[in-house]
Amino acid sequence: MKIKTICCIGAGYVGGPTMSVIAHKNPNIKVIVVDSNIKRINRWNDIDLTNLPIYEPGLSEVVAKVRGKNLFFSSDIDKAIKESEMIFISVNTPTKTYGAGKGMAADLKYVELCARQIANSAESDKIIVEKSTLPVKTAEAIQNILDNTGNGVNFQILSNPEFLAEGTAMRDLTVPDRVLIGGDSSTKKGKQSIQALFNIYSSWVPKENILTTNLWSSELSKLTANAFLAQRVSSINSLTELCEATGADIQEVSKAIGMDTRIGNKFLQASVGFGGSCFQKDILNLVYIAQSLGLNEVANYWHQVILMNNHQRSRFSKNIIKSLYNNVNGKNIALLGWAFKKDTNDSRESAAIYVADLLIEEKANLRVYDPKVTADQMYNDLNYVNNRVVDNNNNYFKVCNDQNHATKDAHAVAILTEWQEFKNYDWKKIYNNMKKPAFIFDGRNILNGDKMREIGFIYKGIGK
Ligand code: UDX
Ligand code: UDX
Repeated sequence: MKIKTICCIGAGYVGGPTMSVIAHKNPNIKVIVVDSNIKRINRWNDIDLTNLPIYEPGLSEVVAKVRGKNLFFSSDIDKAIKESEMIFISVNTPTKTYGAGKGMAADLKYVELCARQIANSAESDKIIVEKSTLPVKTAEAIQNILDNTGNGVNFQILSNPEFLAEGTAMRDLTVPDRVLIGGDSSTKKGKQSIQALFNIYSSWVPKENILTTNLWSSELSKLTANAFLAQRVSSINSLTELCEATGADIQEVSKAIGMDTRIGNKFLQASVGFGGSCFQKDILNLVYIAQSLGLNEVANYWHQVILMNNHQRSRFSKNIIKSLYNNVNGKNIALLGWAFKKDTNDSRESAAIYVADLLIEEKANLRVYDPKVTADQMYNDLNYVNNRVVDNNNNYFKVCNDQNHATKDAHAVAILTEWQEFKNYDWKKIYNNMKKPAFIFDGRNILNGDKMREIGFIYKGIGK
């Protein structure tokens, strides 16, 4: 089956970069990225590439090469569906905030809306590719909607989960560890659609790195991969408290265990807690599925990863309060970093939000600086996690344009994201402008503690 046109519904952190790379590597395929959010599409089409809606190193260069040639951003979803032989669904699947499964299950309303829109508009056979992370067996539900509401055309469903991490998305897409395609290989049409997607990826990914599995294995693999990664972070974070109580150093422990090739050295960086749109949501999803199947031990096992992360975030905030003599009321605290990790402007589920929330409850004056996250985004994040009136948040939370403003007259600095630039600051100057004693709480262990102490700071890393 020859694919000439692809459409992707959802121009977000996954859809945007993934389609840019697919278009770049397949110059003969027309790729149309659509989104119901017209403002977002306009930003993808902005002549000024610094206005793209997401910040991802290397993305604007690729967009510059292919946009207007074989990569298009549009809000005409119906037209793009009609024109394409293959449709990726890459809309968000947030945790449900209402009804059954509230706070746990994935909210599939956007995915279902997409399926219905595809069914209504499609006038010819389509291959539907699930890019969004979905609960196991969602493909079955999508198939059902398509078959029962469509115009009698044939729909083949594939699962093709995305493993890119933000901040390194372009590299992860260009040289992926593996590409996973789940589909129904028991029918001729199913086999052909798997092959069609295989061909698109094999234009740049070595064939041996493209795995094909059945649909359910593919869907479950995505949830499992994120659960394992998050579990590693929670495991190492669980030991930070033990290190602090005993005098062990978590970075030394990470290094020592990471050199064991069976364990491996990646994802052993202790932190203030993991964030991002995926880890928590996908684990909660896994827990909910296990609970729904009556597998309570399985559910409890994975739920612990989330509980440990919550504990780490609040432990960090409480440590600040305790160190500042159990009183932060009216004290200036500079927060450096708001993004959930470096090299992204994404702050979804960032540990910073929860740390800030707890400190605001204690009436601290927060001065916040992040190199990429906008002030609007920060206020939205805060207003989303709590039910304080917006005005109250604004009283305690000021966004600053640089580190010097944020740290001026501060009693303490808390580092919440591992941005490279934080390492290069003139920390002596920052110290001179702070109230004394001047504290640093390094939630990412990125500064040299000995040097900070030499300057005069009371320096506290994580797990040391
Ligand atoms: C999303 C999912 O969160 C994740 O589970 C999945 O693995 C990949 O897709 P992401 O790209 O980071 O991740 O989400 P987001 O940046 O929120 O983008 C989703 C886009 O879909 C938004 O631009 C939104 O406007 C759009 N959308 C949503 C639609 O076009 N139609 C809808 O009905 C709903
Ligand atoms: C993750 C998965 O890595 C990716 O495969 C999937 O497609 C989407 O979810 P992402 O959330 O973008 O990607 O970033 P990731 O690098 O996994 O980091 C997640 C969080 O864990 C961040 O807050 C990060 O700071 C934290 N982390 C990561 C640690 O605290 N320590 C580590 O050692 C690694």
